[in-house]
Amino acid sequence: MLPLLLIVALILLLVWELWVCEGAHLGRRVVVWLYDLAATRYDGIKQFDADWERRFLGEPLEKILSDLPNARLLDIGAGTARTFRALNGGPQAPNSKDALDSRLLVGVEPSGRMMRLGREIAGPDPAWVQGWAVPLPITRESFDVAVCLEVLEFTPHPRQTIGEILRILRPGGWALLTNRIGWQAPLIFGRTVSRTRFTDFLREQGFETAEVFPWQVDYDIAWARKPWT
Ligand SMILES: C[S@@+](CC[C@H](N)C(=O)[O-])C[C@H]1O[C@@H](n2cnc3c(N)ncnc32)[C@H](O)[C@@H]1O
Repeated sequence: MLPLLLIVALILLLVWELWVCEGAHLGRRVVVWLYDLAATRYDGIKQFDADWERRFLGEPLEKILSDLPNARLLDIGAGTARTFRALNGGPQAPNSKDALDSRLLVGVEPSGRMMRLGREIAGPDPAWVQGWAVPLPITRESFDVAVCLEVLEFTPHPRQTIGEILRILRPGGWALLTNRIGWQAPLIFGRTVSRTRFTDFLREQGFETAEVFPWQVDYDIAWARKPWT
């Protein structure tokens, strides 16, 4: 009886780790391997609504970008180009063959398959770099806006991920980040922050201002600003 119970417990633990935590506690390579496996099904699973994405992601980002001449936006864990699609083209790079340091839209994504799909969908303008959130393969203080949607809880150390976002942002730059909520969030041990603590968490990491809004069933969204000095 005991061995059977142990086997059932192990199976439940594995299902919880792979299904809910997406392998977060098994190392970042496992997470990305799972995204590689699921890449072609990702958009079907998420069922993004183009109008909703435009209104609640693209338009607020465009508003921030329009206040900053030649603003540069980095999407971390860019997946299948959700942010670039919501931007509807977004700010155009003068020449899509320019060096990475002068490109206005850049996506960082560790999963080769997610990245290939994102590149196909978003067209030639955004530049893509295959890489991790920590360390970000990006020069310090080189972006005005950093987007990190539905990624933080899958990175090994969310605090370090935030640290990297602060490093690559210019003084006064903005971060748009999601925080996992809902019944599954506390089950992703050590990777999530409670709804009520997220604002303070972002300020403790070094953001000057942070405002959190309800966004989706499983996520709140936060706008946070890096201090000028
Ligand atoms: C839920 S998807 C979100 C994709 C996209 N941001 C969106 O909102 O559709 C999570 C993404 O984070 C990426 N990811 C997972 N671990 C990562 C890490 N350590 N650093 C950077 N990206 C990571 C995955 O490959 C995947 O594309």
